[in-house]
This record gives sequence, C-alpha cells and structure tokens, in this order.
Amino acid sequence: MASAIANGPSEHPEPCVVVIFGASGDLTQRKLIPALFELHLQERLPDGLCVVGVSRTEMTDDEWRQKLAPSVEAHAQGFDRDAWQSFAQRLHYHPGDATTPGPFPGLAQRISELGKQHETFPDGVSPVAPFGDSPWASLPNVLFYLSVAPQLYIPIITQIGAAGMVYEGQRWCSLDDHAVPWQRIIVEKPFGEDVASATELNRALGRVFEEEAIYRIDHYLGKELVQNILVMRFANSIFEPTWNNQFVDHVQVSAIEQVGVGRRAGNFYDKAGATRDMIQSHLLQVLALVAMEPPSIYDADSIRREKIKLINAAREIPAGEAHQRAVFGRYRATNDASDEDTGLAYADLEGVDPARATETYSAVRIDIDNWRWSGVPFYVRSGKKLATKLTEVVVQFKRPPVDLFRQMEPAQRTLERPPNRVIISIAPDEGISMRFEAKVPGPKLAIDSVKFSMDYASAFKAEPLEAYGPLMLDAMRGDQTLYKHRDEVEIGWRIVQPVLDSDQVRASIEDYAPGSWGPKCADELLVRDGRAWHRPE
Ligand code: BG6
Repeated sequence: MASAIANGPSEHPEPCVVVIFGASGDLTQRKLIPALFELHLQERLPDGLCVVGVSRTEMTDDEWRQKLAPSVEAHAQGFDRDAWQSFAQRLHYHPGDATTPGPFPGLAQRISELGKQHETFPDGVSPVAPFGDSPWASLPNVLFYLSVAPQLYIPIITQIGAAGMVYEGQRWCSLDDHAVPWQRIIVEKPFGEDVASATELNRALGRVFEEEAIYRIDHYLGKELVQNILVMRFANSIFEPTWNNQFVDHVQVSAIEQVGVGRRAGNFYDKAGATRDMIQSHLLQVLALVAMEPPSIYDADSIRREKIKLINAAREIPAGEAHQRAVFGRYRATNDASDEDTGLAYADLEGVDPARATETYSAVRIDIDNWRWSGVPFYVRSGKKLATKLTEVVVQFKRPPVDLFRQMEPAQRTLERPPNRVIISIAPDEGISMRFEAKVPGPKLAIDSVKFSMDYASAFKAEPLEAYGPLMLDAMRGDQTLYKHRDEVEIGWRIVQPVLDSDQVRASIEDYAPGSWGPKCADELLVRDGRAWHRPE
C-alpha cells in the first residue's frame, strides 16, 4: 500500500470528534468545555466538530449538558443562553470505565454514528475506510483528550490501543485511493512524577501513537506573552545582541499565586508540590523560550529541537548541593477564612500528610552550561497564597562597565544605581517593560530610574484568551509547535529530580505567612549571590 503523509500542519482546524476522558472532572468543566464554547462563539470551531465525554458516572447526553451549563456560564467569556443551546447539541456522553475494555466497542460505535450525524468526516474521507467491517473501520478524525487522574493515563492509553482505535496515529494521510482519518491524543500534566514514571508513560504512549500524534499539553505555551517571547527576541534586532552572558547578570522566572491549594490538596497536590506542579512543567518551558538559540525556521521541529538543546545544557544539580540551589516553603494559617482553604495552614488541609513536607513554595537556581549563558544564573520560583498574582520573566542586565557619573554629588546620584531590566509580564497584566536611567529635568545633572512599558491590551485592543482553546485548535490542525516533545519532558524531570530527592531541602522547609512574598530562605538564596527577587510595588 502506498502511503502519502500530508506535509506540515493544515491551515484550518480539521473536523473531528473530541473524546474527553474525565468528562465529569474539574478540568473538563472549568477549562475544556468553556474553552470550546468560546471558540464556538467566535465561529472558530470546524463544522462537524462534536464532543463525546467519557466517565464512569451514568448520565445521558442531556444530563451531562445540564451539569456543564453553570460551569460554562461561570468560566466562559460572553456566555449567551441561545449560543449555549446550539453549542450543547455538539456535546454527547458515553458512560464507562475507560481503564477496562468494557466501554470501547460502544464508544467506537458512538463515535462513528456521531461522525455521520454531525457530518464530521472531512472532505475526501470516506466513512467506509479500507479496513474491513470492524466497528473502527468507519471512524472519523478523533482527538482523544486525557483529562483524568494521572494514574489512569497508562490504563486508558492501553485500552485505546487494545481496542484497535488507532490505525494510523499520524497526520492525515491517504492509502492508495482512500483517505484515512487521523487519531491524536492530548495528554494533560502532570506528565509523570519523576524521570522513571515519565519515561514509562512515554513508552506506553509510543506503543499506541506515533510521536506526531502525541500532544503533551502545557497551557503556559498557550499564553500570548509566552508565545511572544520568541517574537520579541527574534523578530527584533535590539534585544538579541545583549541577550547573553556579556550583558545579562541573571534571569528570574516567577509564577506567584494568591490562591491556596484548596480541594486539590489530598487528591493531587500533596503528592506533587510546587516543584512538580509548576517548575518542572510550566516554568522550565518559559525558561527554555527565554534562553534557547534561534531556530533555523519557525516550525514545531526546529523550535522543539532548540528547546531540547537548551534544557539539556542545564547543569545537573549534584545531590549533595541541592540544598544550596533550592529552597522549599509551606504556607501557614491565616485569619482570612474567605478562600477555599478556609484559612487553614497547608499542613492542616484535608488529605495532607504533614510528614511528607510537601512544598507550596519552591525556588531553584538553574545554571545553563553553554557559551551564551555560562555564569548567568536563572532563578525560578513559584508559590501559593502569596502577596499577589504575578507571572513574569525578569532579565536583569549588568551595570555599565564604568560609572561615568561617579563624581556627582551624593545627593544627586543614587549610590547603587539600579541595573537595567527587561520584564516580560505574562499575568495578570500582559506586556513588556524596561527600566533604565534618565536625567531628571532641571539645571543640575541628576539621574533617576524610569520605566517604559508596552501594555498588550492597549497596544492590540485584545482581551487575554483562555489558553486551552487555541491549543486544542492547534491539535486539530496537526501543529505541535506549542506542545512538548517527549525529550523535553524527560530532561525536565532530570533537572528537578535531585531537588525533589534531597532530604536536606525537604527537611529545611520553612513556613511562610499567607499574603507574604514567601519564606525567608528564598530571599537568602539570592542574597547569597548578591541579588534580590523582583518585587513590584
Ligand atoms: C496549573 C497548576 O497547571 O497551573 C495549578 O496545576 C496552578 O496549581 C495553575 O494554579 C496556574 O495557572 P495560571 O494559568 O493561573 O498561571
């Protein structure tokens, strides 16, 4: 059989049936369905797209729609009852335990019928594919979405494979004269809990799907300002010449949150902690985009190759030195009982084992051993219940080699003139700002710092979009640029593993006050190096 695989992603999202495992879960209700609804409102969903939710609860299509409605109303922008009624017709439900073979024959039947009912089959794809009479022989394009607890990933992937639902697993292709639909899978984080489990998960995926069909999602890559990092660096010529160890003193990557852990404490967070939940995944991705070399072309393979090279260049933290490179913190109780945690200390939340010393704050120093970044530390931090919500990258430059203004009267000069900074604000504000020195107007020469900022909302008159929607559209186009390659995930684990395994780091975990900027040991981590965390006023 001759096989012709279409080159590159398609221009438009292709019609498909999205099969969401974990249909009654939090992520599906708060993020995935609201994101699909927003795309429906914006008329960006392909005609014929429909969704089948799968989970163990017995429900009809209508019951699932009713269950979703309040959540979509609460979380989607521009909710409108009529639009919801029309969107809800795209939603279907199939009960069953997807870790067992039981629901799969019925599911395949359902997908096939819905494909015909919604006219999901793309142009040129015959509902009768050249694979005989099996129930799978007439499946349209299928986008599986694993939105379940991580321990269920491998059993479900195995069942999808055993049911024979993946016969191509690649890009849309044609065999002889027959067009063959694709099957792709989006896998949520956490992608494993250490190097070994991530490798095992990658192997399980690889036994069923081609790498080109595996979409490891990281919603940070769907954020506009994260995507803008490469544009800022490589569509301009003013940044790149100074973006190296000759000019940059250090880089900070922060994801600070005001929310606590809440209901997720027992069933997820206590076994994860801030390092696994935020640093290994989201923040290493942001760091890689800030620090990678320019790709030769803007496409998934070239960008991912450069990210892999960069993450590979991160210096392995020797086990005995982890406590000098990383610190953990955990939030205390507060009088403010208005949030989901009802003011409890993390250690007192339901399902938390205090002896595990799970960190709700983590800060790690990462060194990159390559020509561009040798000698420039990257400080990465993330924590819950802190002073503010702030996701940003701070690139701090070195001071000028000579202080031309050193002879100014002390009153007119700042003794330690602040160094230049470029700040990429990812959330809640979106924009880029720079701090530099300027002459204060007046007859005498006096110098002060000024800030120059570009605010995305006013520059582009655009509201921040929920990241999940555009990422799902990319998967429907076959574009993996904003998804992670297997190697990125595995190498990412190697970077943080010595910190996670260090008894010394865990034993030195420090409590911090809710609403503060985190534990003192995090400040000390930078003070030791003669530096300080950025704290916007
Ligand atoms: C998730 C983490 O991946 O990202 C959460 O599991 C965290 O703990 C969330 O709160 C933060 O995302 P965002 O987009 O609000 O910065």
